[in-house]
Amino acid sequence: MLKDHHVVVVGGGSGIGRSVAEASVAQGARVTVASRNADRLTTVVRDIGPAVTARPLDMTDDTAVAAFAAGLDPVDHLVITASSAAHGPFATRDISAVEAMFVAKFFGPYRTAKAVLPKMTKGGSITFFSGVLSRRPGENCSGLGAVNSAVEGLTRGLALELGPDLRINCISPGMVDSAAYAHVPKEQREKMYRETGASLPAGRVGRPAEIAEAVLFVMTNTYTTGIVLDVDGGHMIRQYARR
Ligand SMILES: NC(=O)c1ccc[n+]([C@@H]2O[C@H](COP(=O)([O-])OP(=O)(O)OC[C@H]3O[C@@H](n4cnc5c(N)ncnc54)[C@H](OP(=O)(O)O)[C@@H]3O)[C@@H](O)[C@H]2O)c1
Repeated sequence: MLKDHHVVVVGGGSGIGRSVAEASVAQGARVTVASRNADRLTTVVRDIGPAVTARPLDMTDDTAVAAFAAGLDPVDHLVITASSAAHGPFATRDISAVEAMFVAKFFGPYRTAKAVLPKMTKGGSITFFSGVLSRRPGENCSGLGAVNSAVEGLTRGLALELGPDLRINCISPGMVDSAAYAHVPKEQREKMYRETGASLPAGRVGRPAEIAEAVLFVMTNTYTTGIVLDVDGGHMIRQYARR
């Protein structure tokens, strides 16, 4: 279905983005992966093969994003998984950390989509990423919930404005075992996965490949636009403990 399509994955150096690159190549696409760490990108190219091109990029840097977009061949599908997170209590968390998160997780995708837009082919798609916290908040995560809501709002607005030439969608994952938690010590991370998994109807946290399947659906289904697709193991309906 993606034969000879050009898929650009910003955030393709690890986790869900890397799985999107793999799944797209399996369907016949050429893929450009971009993120900051050049070594990780080299590993992605080595593992997936010659259908993948790596382009180091920091999507918070205006000049770098403009040069990145200018150097791209026509783009059929743009997928932006790159993000950053800032947790902490509202009362004490530095505003600067929350602002930096908006710069990365909202303005990074906003800037990248705007820069790549002139390269997008008619009939193509853009896929953004939010997360369950926009609608199922957690304590100490108010800023992350808010930035996810902003990305979902952007998705709906752009779907109206850029249709029918382009379709714009957003994937909202629940907890996924990925490099996003590499900074958490192993024992603590495994406990977090176990406990979160046990609280979900699916009984476990997700895998990057399962989220990539949903990305391929919104990329290729020509009647899907303006949606936020929850791929979360049932997180939206999970039972929260009473205080
Ligand atoms: N994993 C979860 O549990 C979970 C839950 C809810 C929502 N999500 C959302 O799902 C999306 C994908 O998450 P993931 O689990 O795949 O995370 P991940 O494995 O950490 O992947 C994020 C990728 O983005 C790249 N990146 C970060 N900042 C960047 C920047 N400024 N410019 C360019 N690339 C940048 C990172 O590589 P470099 O550091 O090399 O740049 C990394 O390859 C994110 O939007 C995340 O918020 C994930």
